Amino acid sequence: MKELVENFPEMCEQALRLTVPKKNLKGVKGMLVLGMGGSGITGDIIRDCCDVRVDVCRDYKLPKCDPETLVIAISYSGNTEETLSSFTQALGLKNTLAITSGGKLIELARSGKIDTIQIPSGMPPRAALSYLLFPLIKFLRQSGVRIEGVDEAIESLKSIAKKTKRLREIGNGIEGQIGIYCPPGFEGAARRLKTQINENAKTLARWDSFPELNHNEHVGWENATGKNTVIILRDSGEHERTTARIEYMKEYIGGKSKIFEIFSLGKSKLSRELSLIYQGDLISIFLAEKNGVDATPVQSIDALKEHLSKIK
Ligand code: PA5
Repeated sequence: MKELVENFPEMCEQALRLTVPKKNLKGVKGMLVLGMGGSGITGDIIRDCCDVRVDVCRDYKLPKCDPETLVIAISYSGNTEETLSSFTQALGLKNTLAITSGGKLIELARSGKIDTIQIPSGMPPRAALSYLLFPLIKFLRQSGVRIEGVDEAIESLKSIAKKTKRLREIGNGIEGQIGIYCPPGFEGAARRLKTQINENAKTLARWDSFPELNHNEHVGWENATGKNTVIILRDSGEHERTTARIEYMKEYIGGKSKIFEIFSLGKSKLSRELSLIYQGDLISIFLAEKNGVDATPVQSIDALKEHLSKIK
């Protein structure tokens, strides 16, 4: 896992070279991404980084969507039952796309003559983010959706890979209950860090975003006890009132929690989002090392999938 995470910038470049279908998306008013876990996060990143409206569905049931919506099913294995179920309900719609390495999703897409991006197999889904995301970005750009900053994002990732000392210090410094806070518009990065800490470091974590957290989570700190760590994702484009809130919270919880901050890199939203994601991914690997756990296996997810496969 560590090597895959370290190679993320190069994998993004390789992923961009994949051939993707071309579609005229003129008239498409929004996107609906169907996907779970390490695949579904791709939808959150696209939502955070493009101008078009994007919703992410993590359910068996396809939500109401108008005919002008592009529905994108993303499942790395191609066998995730929630994604297969919601995508089956979308099959009659005008604009659909599937992204997978194989499994039942590719069979479904082939039999329904659905545009498909097939990506290499053999990785843990969350380590295949480069392949789940960049060919989709290429497809969307080719099809007329504006997502800027691809080259800048890859340069930012490369510069992070060269300097990981501070990220290792953060991973080593994490203790107790873990909270991840982000400014609005970076919910994908915050969710990704939470899920990477869960799956790589086998540790519980929660995430929340400003300014919303000041209206609920904030109050929970009144009675906080024990050890706590908060990682705050920071961005140069934060609203000045959001910055004021973050600075206030640092003071407010400082006596009760360790606080670490990581900062976005670059001008484009894609670079800023992915630079936070990549720093978070590395922190989760360093935390796994500190915890003495193998980052790769996700036995409890496998056990549940196995259980569910028997009770159909
Ligand atoms: O990281 C993981 O293994 C999970 O979060 C999976 O991504 C999730 O279970 C969905 O599987 P898939 O990505 O194959 O659709």
